[in-house]
Amino acid sequence: MASALDPCSFSSSAKCATKHLNLGYHVDFGRRVLTAKAELTVEVLQDRFSSLTLDTRDLKISSVTANGQEAKFAMGAKHSFMGTPLEITLPFELSRGQQVIVEVGYETAPAASALQWLTPEQTAGKEHPYLFSQCQANHCRSMVPCQDSPSVKHTYYAQVSVPKELVAVMSAMRDGQEPDPQDSSRVVYRFRQPVPMPSYLIAIVVGALESRVIGPRSRVWSEKELVDKAAFEFSETETMLKTAEDLAGPYVWGQYDILVLPPSFPYGGMENPCLTFATPTLLAGDRSLSNVIAHEISHSWTGNLVTNKTWEHFWLNEGHTVYLERMIGRSMESEQFRQFKAMGGWKELQESINTFGSNNPLTNLVPSLHEVDPDDAFSSVPYEKGFALLYHLEELMGGPEVFMGFVKSYIQLFAYSSVTTEEWKSYLFTYFKDKVDILNKVDWNAWMHTPGMPPVKPQYDTTMADTCIALCQRWTKAEEKDLGGFLESDVKTLSSHQLIEFLSLLLQEEPLPLSHVERMQEAYDLNAFMNSEIRYRWLRLCVRCKLESAVPAALKMATEQGRMKFTRPLFREVYGFTKYREEALLMFQDHRAAMHPVTASLVAKDLKVDASQTTTF
Ligand code: BES
Ligand code: ZN
Repeated sequence: MASALDPCSFSSSAKCATKHLNLGYHVDFGRRVLTAKAELTVEVLQDRFSSLTLDTRDLKISSVTANGQEAKFAMGAKHSFMGTPLEITLPFELSRGQQVIVEVGYETAPAASALQWLTPEQTAGKEHPYLFSQCQANHCRSMVPCQDSPSVKHTYYAQVSVPKELVAVMSAMRDGQEPDPQDSSRVVYRFRQPVPMPSYLIAIVVGALESRVIGPRSRVWSEKELVDKAAFEFSETETMLKTAEDLAGPYVWGQYDILVLPPSFPYGGMENPCLTFATPTLLAGDRSLSNVIAHEISHSWTGNLVTNKTWEHFWLNEGHTVYLERMIGRSMESEQFRQFKAMGGWKELQESINTFGSNNPLTNLVPSLHEVDPDDAFSSVPYEKGFALLYHLEELMGGPEVFMGFVKSYIQLFAYSSVTTEEWKSYLFTYFKDKVDILNKVDWNAWMHTPGMPPVKPQYDTTMADTCIALCQRWTKAEEKDLGGFLESDVKTLSSHQLIEFLSLLLQEEPLPLSHVERMQEAYDLNAFMNSEIRYRWLRLCVRCKLESAVPAALKMATEQGRMKFTRPLFREVYGFTKYREEALLMFQDHRAAMHPVTASLVAKDLKVDASQTTTF
């Protein structure tokens, strides 16, 4: 049974709490396994304590000791997405306040859901293999037996042995390296994370990595082929960090590096402490997608310092982070730019709610996740309904400066802990004690516990969106005879942000006639745009409008990179074009074995591919 406190974890955080983890990894590319030792320092929270449960998933456990003494252990029944509980019985009894060191010897599975093992052909350099992890939301248990709940925070150290031509990095401070005493062909890298953090922020990459300094506390890391491009793209990092510190308080994590992963990385960015992970699809060449970095930087406060207690409160992480991300945009660009981005966010929210269905309980700001896989629940809802709520409160409470006062104070109060929506709300009422009458008029139940769009639609300034809206309307209203009137000059003066907005608006409308998208290509040459956000929307639009020649390009983009935000809708769009449904399915079968495990399983669900009919390795 899931723990009473966290529906996504078997380990009961009421009985005991992990304080520190010491991790030893031997990275075996030949067998695609990590041979490992995890030493957990566990604090006991109740008397007569003699057993504990850890989360695992597809781990092969070889030994368990408690304070060096052999301990009995048994694996429970395997759950579809929560994995297998590891029940440990201590050879002694402890009382409240005592600590015990539990050491687990184990090996990961080649199909571990947190890990993707890449062949040299799947890397930019084509010469060396590559390994990366992605633990959020509940995949850490497939690489560490642990209390895999964001309600538990601990520090960690790690020692990682890798072939000496490769480099290991983790979500921690780098702490030196030395030849592996056991094997002269290998090197051991050491790491130290002195700030307590939840298990989902443990992260590792091993590959032929290089780095460049981009600021006083920042480097970019990637294979050498991309490192200069990445250094250019992310050169605003230090300015963003300083802006974020002005808004939210001191940055406590020491280093802030960015690692650009191979194209199959499933997210745009991941806020791993000391080392943000980023998709190479951010490398637009003009820094126009750097808001993702502002977003991941913001998580250093909202998410990594103040953490959602369970995934049901995920909006506390993402809603506040989008709010901070847009505040950074406001400082570095303008208020109008923030308003423009907020409006785009509202549209993303509408799209998510359309996809899930407006009665779907997963579109609640605070959904119930009992027997729900957090990967299935993932959508823009916690991001954009969360942002919309915070923006609505900002307006009610007296504007951005006043509301940032609350956000900063919330961060300082709850730093180093994990919080629920109720705790957040109760502090909101305490902070704004003079405005409680206004807060009481908010329809909290509609915002938090009701599916569909929010009860209030914020009025955003449309200055930057007006040209996009007008151009979208010209296209939707145009008849065949008007098509000659569209010219390259329509889009020449649009920024890439505005071009993205224009295409997003069109995607919300009824599909355009085929003749229109053909003319759009002729006039604007959108096929030539390599900015991933533009290309993704353009290809979706073409497929939606049944432009057959766009199908191969859409499937190519869906498989050449694996960011789920692009890959899933592109596959779904081609699947929805009945004539090419089979094509989409074949393309997926062809690529499945080489795809990231989480992406592969979600695309399989999207395309209604019966999991039992396909082999996973
Ligand atoms: N923490 C998320 C990514 C994530 C969420 C991974 C849930 C696994 C489970 C990250 O901070 C994020 O939100 N990334 C966005 C960035 C965007 C909102 C600017 C992305 O990947 O696109
Ligand atoms: Zn985020």
